[in-house]
Amino acid sequence: MLDHLPSPHSLPPRKVWLKTFGCQMNYHDSERLLSHLEEINFTSTDSRDDADLILFNTCSIRDLANSKFYSHLGELKKFKQRLGRELVIGVGGCIAQIEGEELIRRFAHLDFAFGTDVIDQINQLVLRAYLSEEKFSLNKWDRGRDYSIETKIVHGEPQAFVNIIKGCDKFCTYCIVPYTRGREKSRRLAEIVGDCTNLVKEQGVSEITLLGQNVNSFGKEHSETLAELIERLEPLVGLKRMRYTTSHPYDLSDALIAIHGRSKKLANNLHLPVQSGSDSVLSRMRREYTIEHYLDLVERLRAANPALSLSTDIIVGFPNESEEEFLATIELLNRVRFDSIYSFKFSPRKGTKAAKIDDLLTEEVRGQRLQQVQKRQLEIQAEDRQKMVGQRYEILVEGSKVMKGQFKWSGRTSCNRIIHFLPEQEGVDYQWQWIEVEVIEATALSCQGRVVRE
Ligand code: 5AD
Ligand code: SF4
Repeated sequence: MLDHLPSPHSLPPRKVWLKTFGCQMNYHDSERLLSHLEEINFTSTDSRDDADLILFNTCSIRDLANSKFYSHLGELKKFKQRLGRELVIGVGGCIAQIEGEELIRRFAHLDFAFGTDVIDQINQLVLRAYLSEEKFSLNKWDRGRDYSIETKIVHGEPQAFVNIIKGCDKFCTYCIVPYTRGREKSRRLAEIVGDCTNLVKEQGVSEITLLGQNVNSFGKEHSETLAELIERLEPLVGLKRMRYTTSHPYDLSDALIAIHGRSKKLANNLHLPVQSGSDSVLSRMRREYTIEHYLDLVERLRAANPALSLSTDIIVGFPNESEEEFLATIELLNRVRFDSIYSFKFSPRKGTKAAKIDDLLTEEVRGQRLQQVQKRQLEIQAEDRQKMVGQRYEILVEGSKVMKGQFKWSGRTSCNRIIHFLPEQEGVDYQWQWIEVEVIEATALSCQGRVVRE
């Protein structure tokens, strides 16, 4: 390992093409990677053909994300041979954490692999890859007692992610995350408050998402809590909106529910993964709560903030899920009426408990159940979103695109819905503006609005 990094001016300018798979945590890690690489004279490029360095930030949560990455990596073999100039290829993230050495052995064109806990050492790793002929994999865990980082931002946008906790100790029986991200470790509350203050005051950030695999466990080792952290951030002048993700229902505290009622800045949205509507499946998943407990949380959250929209994750076809158990999930959709869901077919992950179960379900049944869940949810969304028509929302404009031949802007409400709208006049630039819109049309999947206040 290099002890000291050379000054960026002594290094040639180079380009990096970075491809990210997976969750918000991975996208945020990618921001960190790019920000570090700037220090050794790399700029990011959208074109793989221009790159001197290709990096993948990988995800192993389900088989689909896994195989997408492998086909990208396989494709690069011929690309690198044909290129006729130096190209370094590195693989990081969750797959590299558990399969780094194997990747290096199997893919001759891969130069290095790095795990999830060495993101902040990327510059040393890249320089080592350039200097040495030897391929390597580094996937060691950070065993330090404290988890201290500074949020890296390269994009200059008003939305920022801030890591507050890493890892997960839950060991849900289907989930690979505790193996790819390690044990839970929280940052100190004071450090996070300082970090957020800097983002808001120095960098013009107005919307912050507090990030972690299980944010409700934040601060356990230091007797600090997520509720306290949100209360400390609330008075920050310039900060308009806060979100946090991902939550585990078991650890969602009464204090946090109360804050959903009180806070002026906490978004009117909560992602609260339930996974299944059946107590027996939840128990086999080792989720630590029952549906009664979950429904009680929903009721109390909605009592605290009636405008709160809820989203969730659903896994269908957990090993040997019976028809009755599956129908309990449909029943749960009917009872809670989530604003949106992310639904997945169970995907066995090597090394997890659920992957060892002798499973009698077929892929066909899993596929049918997934369709059934998605169909029912779309019906619910189509009905509930009608209620948005005529309502006014403050949105942060995130981008624009041509839809059915019309140029439209789009922004996100506090309840996390995207609203598309036509510009008041041609040529107005709404990017990253906070504006008010009225919804004029709503379907299950999209909302159209008009500007009422800029
Ligand atoms: N199979 C299917 N879905 C999974 N998830 C996690 N592990 C698996 C798996 N093995 C889903 C869960 C989780 C989301 C991020 O991914 O619903 O909440
Ligand atoms: Fe995976 Fe979430 Fe369960 Fe942790 S709490 S093991 S990240 S599903």
